[in-house]
Amino acid sequence: MRTAIATAPATVANVGPGFDVLGLCLEEPRDRVRAELTADGRVELVAVEGDEGRLSRVAAENCAGVAAQAVLERFGAAGSGVRLWLDKGLPLGSGLGSSAASAVAAALATARLVCPEVPKEALLDACREGERLATGSPHPDNVAPSLLGGLVACLPGAGEAVEVVRLALPAGLHVVCVKPDVEVRTADARRVMPAAIPVADVVRTLAAMAGLVTALASGDLELAGRCLDDRVATPYRRALIPGYDAVMEALLRAGAVGGGISGSGPTVFALAGDRECARRAADAMVEAFATAGHAAMALVSAVDPSGARLEP
Ligand code: HSE
Repeated sequence: MRTAIATAPATVANVGPGFDVLGLCLEEPRDRVRAELTADGRVELVAVEGDEGRLSRVAAENCAGVAAQAVLERFGAAGSGVRLWLDKGLPLGSGLGSSAASAVAAALATARLVCPEVPKEALLDACREGERLATGSPHPDNVAPSLLGGLVACLPGAGEAVEVVRLALPAGLHVVCVKPDVEVRTADARRVMPAAIPVADVVRTLAAMAGLVTALASGDLELAGRCLDDRVATPYRRALIPGYDAVMEALLRAGAVGGGISGSGPTVFALAGDRECARRAADAMVEAFATAGHAAMALVSAVDPSGARLEP
């Protein structure tokens, strides 16, 4: 096999109280990477499209290139290299896991060429190297759901190791993501968080996390809504999102289960029991952003159960 194409979807990280732990996978949008096998031992980023020229074309400075390099180092035969073409389907700086989707698509396409026997799960660390470059932190909660699909919890292991656990979701659950016309860089959103969080806020967030996981597994949407409560990141980040409080009120009024900041923002997500309700929440959220003076785009998706995939 000389060429491979992979796509990797957008994700909602944190999912309320699960800062750097929970993430869920959307069906769309997706980044797409075509990889071509070479014998020069290098990673070359031949072209990037869909980014309005904003991402580095130098492989070592682009999360797709870095993730591909990490796959070669871990699994490639000596001398194998790849040329990459990256097509961005995700908006940059949106809180939808844009850097993660590029890293995952590049890792999967590269792995198809150099180590097709390696299971997807084993590519996680290589994908996290792309995230480390893009955001300054190898947090796993975007790359893991983009790679594997579903709702996942990323459990810290020894050193920087991460164990991914798949969590249950109620049938019919839909996700709304509404992105206003502002950008927030993940590195900046991490910088606004203090080094120490008050114990009472941590306790409340831990309780919400336990409640959310249980509620989603049992299908108790009312409890899930109450548990979409984060006191670790949201209090410090909400100021980066114009109209945040009004958007949250609007999604609840429209009947959504609850919501919060998607990843590091500015996208706000909502969970809804069915597609109809999700559509109503999306309209209400867009309107609330408009009232706050910002155009916004909405997407409604089921949770994608399988994540990144190879194209035939
Ligand atoms: N867990 C990360 C954060 C996700 O909130 O900073 C970034 O998309």
